[in-house]
Amino acid sequence: MEENFEKTLVLIKPDGVQRKLIGEIIDRFQNRGLQLVAAKMLLVSRELAETHYKEHKGKSFYNGLVEYITSAPTMAMVWAGEHAIEAVRQTVGKTNPLEAAPGTIRHDYALLTSRNLIHASDSHETAEREIALWFKPEEICEWSDQHHKWIFGKN
Ligand code: CMP
Repeated sequence: MEENFEKTLVLIKPDGVQRKLIGEIIDRFQNRGLQLVAAKMLLVSRELAETHYKEHKGKSFYNGLVEYITSAPTMAMVWAGEHAIEAVRQTVGKTNPLEAAPGTIRHDYALLTSRNLIHASDSHETAEREIALWFKPEEICEWSDQHHKWIFGKN
């Protein structure tokens, strides 16, 4: 396995699904060279939403956040690659779409923090915890990506 090979959780939240942006978002990650290793669409339970967002409990936006994520289907995915956690967050852009750099998904497709389309794990510890929360080990498909030597090749 390549050095620094990581997996990270990405959620296309209900606004992204409803706005038919699933294909565009997947394209962005695939075009960058990242590898999709797990995916499922689900209507998130209140329990899963509360566990996933437990660090935000008590904040002013918490109740609305749980309502939003449970209101319609979410597309959950695991993306893999060298430095995948940082690469995904860079492609997604800052939490507030108005602060996200042009060319990032949140900049190009969103305007408000409360409807920012995507969630992506922010550290190794978070990625490990979140992948285990959203996926059973057998739902993660480790496949050999023949493009890796062209994307992660070292000289
Ligand atoms: P996400 O990356 O899923 O992590 C926490 C989420 O909380 C964030 O994206 C936003 O959807 C939401 N959020 C964070 N801050 C605010 C805020 N100030 N107002 C509304 N929603 C917020």
